[in-house]
Amino acid sequence: MDYVKLLFFMLFPLLCQLAFCSSLSHLCPKDQALALLQFKHMFTINYDASDHCLDKKGQSIQSYPKTLSWNKSTDCCSWDGVYCDETTGNVIELNLTCSKLQGKFHSNSSLFQLSNLKWLDLSENDFSGSLISPKFGELSSLKHLDLSYSGFTGLIPAEISRLSKLHVLSIESSLLRFEPHNFELLLENLTQLRELYFYGVNTSSTIPLNFSSYLTTLYLRNTQLYGTLPEGIFHLSNLESLTLLEIPQLTVRFPTTKWNSSASLMELVLSGVNATGRIPESFGHLTSLRNLTIASCNLSGSIPKPLWNLTNIELLNLGHNHLEGPISDFFRFGKLWGLSLANNNFDGQLEFLSFNNFDGQLEFLHFSSNSVTGPIPSNVSGLQNLQSLRLSSNHLNGTIPSWIFSLPSLTHLNLSDNHFSGNTQEFKSQTLFSVSLKQNQLQGPIPNDDGVPQGLGQGEEGDSSMISWQAVLMGYGCGLVIGLSIIYIMLSTQYPTWFSRMDDSSLVYI
Ligand SMILES: *[C@@H]1O[C@H](CO)[C@@H](O)[C@H](O)[C@H]1NC(C)=O
Ligand SMILES: *[C@@H]1O[C@H](CO)[C@@H](O)[C@H](O)[C@H]1NC(C)=O
Ligand SMILES: *[C@@H]1O[C@H](CO)[C@@H](O)[C@H](O)[C@H]1NC(C)=O
Ligand SMILES: *[C@@H]1O[C@H](CO)[C@@H](O)[C@H](O)[C@H]1NC(C)=O
Ligand SMILES: *[C@@H]1O[C@H](CO)[C@@H](O)[C@H](O)[C@H]1NC(C)=O
Ligand SMILES: *[C@@H]1O[C@H](CO)[C@@H](O)[C@H](O)[C@H]1NC(C)=O
Ligand SMILES: *[C@@H]1O[C@H](CO)[C@@H](O)[C@H](O)[C@H]1NC(C)=O
Ligand SMILES: *[C@@H]1O[C@H](CO)[C@@H](O)[C@H](O)[C@H]1NC(C)=O
Ligand SMILES: *[C@@H]1O[C@H](CO)[C@@H](O)[C@H](O)[C@H]1NC(C)=O
Ligand SMILES: *[C@@H]1O[C@H](CO)[C@@H](O)[C@H](O)[C@H]1NC(C)=O
Ligand SMILES: *[C@@H]1O[C@H](CO)[C@@H](O)[C@H](O)[C@H]1NC(C)=O
Ligand SMILES: *[C@@H]1O[C@H](CO)[C@@H](O)[C@H](O)[C@H]1NC(C)=O
Repeated sequence: MDYVKLLFFMLFPLLCQLAFCSSLSHLCPKDQALALLQFKHMFTINYDASDHCLDKKGQSIQSYPKTLSWNKSTDCCSWDGVYCDETTGNVIELNLTCSKLQGKFHSNSSLFQLSNLKWLDLSENDFSGSLISPKFGELSSLKHLDLSYSGFTGLIPAEISRLSKLHVLSIESSLLRFEPHNFELLLENLTQLRELYFYGVNTSSTIPLNFSSYLTTLYLRNTQLYGTLPEGIFHLSNLESLTLLEIPQLTVRFPTTKWNSSASLMELVLSGVNATGRIPESFGHLTSLRNLTIASCNLSGSIPKPLWNLTNIELLNLGHNHLEGPISDFFRFGKLWGLSLANNNFDGQLEFLSFNNFDGQLEFLHFSSNSVTGPIPSNVSGLQNLQSLRLSSNHLNGTIPSWIFSLPSLTHLNLSDNHFSGNTQEFKSQTLFSVSLKQNQLQGPIPNDDGVPQGLGQGEEGDSSMISWQAVLMGYGCGLVIGLSIIYIMLSTQYPTWFSRMDDSSLVYI
């Protein structure tokens, strides 16, 4: 008896290989492999397509023609971007983002035969003005659908709202439109939705009252949505990230009581929506908040005291509003890497900079166009990672302290339009990209040869870079510029990291 058992165990690997493992190596059903190959042959590879692929967090994704590796001699489950169910062998995931596909996406596409698909990412290809086929609505198992930046145009078919199992839907394209009513039907039917990304889609509609209670991420940008944002959205208890950008007809009223999302909400980014009024005290409950941007939203009044309890805040942008109060209050936040209060009515002095512990993590500090007075303190430390300092158009006076000239990571400095006086020094930074000191009472040398501008048009100040360039030339001519204004722009080969983040939603209108 024992021998029989032993024999069995010895033979087991062989039996396995004969029985299961051989079937494992031919997992992919033939008809699905064929459908995928037909799909592959509908498109050509365009190496210029999918050029700058970014994921939802703005990180770049490797872009290459995945379908090139698809061929009959290998199992389709091993093809690049294709994933099969381990037990049934059905193709359940297709990840063709950034795959350089080019061509028309017709309604007769063999893709629609893959009825088991749960995950479909066709983003960042070039489907050359194809319409979105109503047949997408037949892929009823889909949990994840991404059709962003793929050259689809026209009306988004109503059938999309049949995909009631969707967890993630991403449609980012300025070429697409939604019938108003269809947008509402969609959101009402997607009861499982976790993440919704809509960017540029022409949707002239109000936002429906009820949303999936599972929602974690809502990203709506540059749509034609109007009306008032339903307050219920702030009370979704799983909400982690709410982003509403460039939707001027949309009015946002923050709840005045504790939000049900207060424990989960990490990112609140509003810019270019109508949030007329004050920041309510209820913000004090948002203890998980890390990124807070409410910029260009017509906010007014002072910052409510409970906001100072939000000690996890890393990025705070309240720029381009009508907010007021002393600027020093903001330095109760210990973990900041970015702060913009530009274009408001904040006042007070900057002396708090010298007794604040920055720990070196601060990367940008933008106070331009406020009513800040007095000098910049002379002893400030912990700013070794500061890349951008903008204090222009305030009432600052005194001399420019020497620590500013030796900030090792500085790329952008704007101290223009203040009352600074005295001498400037040479900048020790190798990273400088643009500097503006105009409209002060300064005098001093222009930097040495290392700072000679390499070209035009890359300056941050746009059109004014031409003027600045001329000022630099003047400066070099005389070696010394004495007068009411000194302007120059230096261009370095290094592209500053925060500048490339400008595209990122949370930095809009810094
Ligand atoms: C999809 O493919 C891209 C590469 O093109 C990769 O970066 C990404 O992680 C893949 N997504 C998933 C969920 O596997
Ligand atoms: C099929 O794909 C495999 C792996 O990608 C590759 O090694 C092989 O050369 C391909 N065969 C043909 C006929 O293209
Ligand atoms: C799919 O439809 C397009 C346009 O209607 C047509 O040109 C193409 O031949 C069709 N392909 C197949 C495989 O039927
Ligand atoms: C909502 O989803 C169900 C499937 O769950 C579907 O039968 C129905 O047609 C959908 N409604 C709309 C308006 O698409
Ligand atoms: C919205 O409310 C309707 C009617 O009460 C319900 O059928 C639907 O499932 C709800 N949708 C969501 C996303 O919760
Ligand atoms: C949005 O679509 C409507 C037609 O549905 C059109 O009249 C309007 O001009 C479009 N708006 C934009 C900004 O494309
Ligand atoms: C907040 O959550 C509580 C407990 O789950 C619930 O009773 C209440 O209705 C919710 N409030 C809102 C405004 O959704
Ligand atoms: C905050 O914003 C930064 C930059 O936009 C981003 O990298 C980071 O993931 C965000 N953090 C959270 C918690 O959302
Ligand atoms: C902005 O919101 C305020 C108050 O919520 C409202 O009175 C005003 O009409 C709105 N403005 C626009 C342009 O919708
Ligand atoms: C903020 O913190 C103070 C104590 O530092 C506390 O008394 C107050 O209740 C807190 N406010 C909120 C809204 O949590
Ligand atoms: C901005 O707020 C003021 C009141 O503070 C209001 O009169 C004005 O209409 C608002 N502007 C917009 C565009 O909503
Ligand atoms: C700076 O301005 C303040 C008034 O805001 C004034 O009291 C002070 O004397 C000025 N300092 C210098 C150095 O001009």
